[in-house]
Amino acid sequence: MNKKPDDWMDLYKKEPEEKVVIPEGPLLFYNELVIDHFTNPRNVGEMDDADGYALIGDPSCGDQMKLWIKVREGRIAAIKFKSFGCPGAIATSSMCTVMAVGKTIAEAKQLTDDDIITALGGIPEHKAHCSLMGSHALLEAIRDYEQKRDKTAVK
Ligand code: FES
Repeated sequence: MNKKPDDWMDLYKKEPEEKVVIPEGPLLFYNELVIDHFTNPRNVGEMDDADGYALIGDPSCGDQMKLWIKVREGRIAAIKFKSFGCPGAIATSSMCTVMAVGKTIAEAKQLTDDDIITALGGIPEHKAHCSLMGSHALLEAIRDYEQKRDKTAVK
């Protein structure tokens, strides 16, 4: 029976029992557009005066994402994000923000993870869930914006 480590950090101090052999070349195939959005993600950063904000996580892998939107005249005027995630999460989140800017709130709500993957020319199948981060964060930020807007309208 495996002995439990006293401290979870012990897991990282331990030498691996077997050497992990990493094959040469890319482990996953990402197309050039995905690599471009991963290495040069658009709309990265934070926003002080955001109208909507979301912090979401993907329970399947533990990745997290923060996303801010600014809304002017019913359209997404600006968007920023920060992601603690894999290349697929960063690339799809970047593309999500590019696609969302300029859209009306109603249009932005229609943006799906499939739309994002299609715009990127596809991502490896078992990375498809990564594209949910951007679309979910966008929806949550819009929800946050609408709640704040409705509260202000009631006053
Ligand atoms: Fe976690 Fe990609 S593996 S979002």
